[in-house]
Parts: sequence; C-alpha cells; structure tokens
Amino acid sequence: MEISFSKDDLVLIDNIQAKYPVKDASIMPVLWLAQKKFGWISPDVILLVAQLLSVSPSKVEGVATFYTMFYKKPMGKYHIQVCTNISCMLRDGVKIYDYLSDKFNIKNMETTADGMYSLEEVECMGACGGAPMIAINEDYYENITIEKLDSILNTLK
Ligand code: FES
Repeated sequence: MEISFSKDDLVLIDNIQAKYPVKDASIMPVLWLAQKKFGWISPDVILLVAQLLSVSPSKVEGVATFYTMFYKKPMGKYHIQVCTNISCMLRDGVKIYDYLSDKFNIKNMETTADGMYSLEEVECMGACGGAPMIAINEDYYENITIEKLDSILNTLK
C-alpha cells in the first residue's frame, strides 16, 4: 500500500474518532476525508481506513458501496453533479444534464479522457429554491442556464 495520511490528517481522524462512542460510526467521516485527499475510494483506501480504525475492510467497503457520494473509481478534477429531481427537472435540469453530457461526450459517472470533468446525475441536493442547480466539486451554483453554465465552465482550468 503506497498511500498514507499526513500527520495533520491523522490529527483530524483522531478528532473524528473522539466524537463517536464506537469506531464504526467514524467510518463515514473518515472515508469522506479520504475521498477528499485521494479523489476516490480505491481498494487501498479501504484497507488504509480499516487499518486506521481497527475495523474490518469489509465493514469499510460496506459503507463505501452503500453511499453514492463515495466514488468507486477516479472522477474528474471537476466533478459536476446535476440535479434532475422534481424542482430542477421542472426548470430544465434534464436539459442542463444533457447539454453537459453532449458537450463532454460522457454519460453518468463517466470522466473525460483528459481527466478534467466527470458528470453525475443526482437527486435533490436541498437547494430547490435555486432550481435548477448544479454542484462542481463542493460549490453549488443555482438558477443555472446554459449560458451561465458555459461562463462557469470557462473559469475552470
Ligand atoms: S430538486 Fe434540485 S435541488 Fe431540490
């Protein structure tokens, strides 16, 4: 296993563990931290997290596979999530998803060949008031139009 957490990460992980009475409960937040650091939850990440938390790899894998927010393969530098749930759908969320899918020539959970962009169709992200909305990595963008989307994409490098 070549991957590892930094000293600062380990302090964060200690703090996470201290919040919970049982180790299992910290699997999800530690996986989240791991995904931020390594980009996706690879088999090596599962082993690393299991080792750190002294839980079985199958337990960690169970959490990683249950929640869609954990990626099981590398995603793009910019992971674009497009909500197509009811409020966003009624305000062109599907059109926005299709636009991006055509523009980058990728489908749901695929990544462009250069590794820059990946696309995900998601359920309600709790920002219905700003429908249609997208998220790029952890930033939300609301009241999206194709024009607005293109100008946001132009700012990404
Ligand atoms: S329906 Fe899109 S954010 Fe709620």
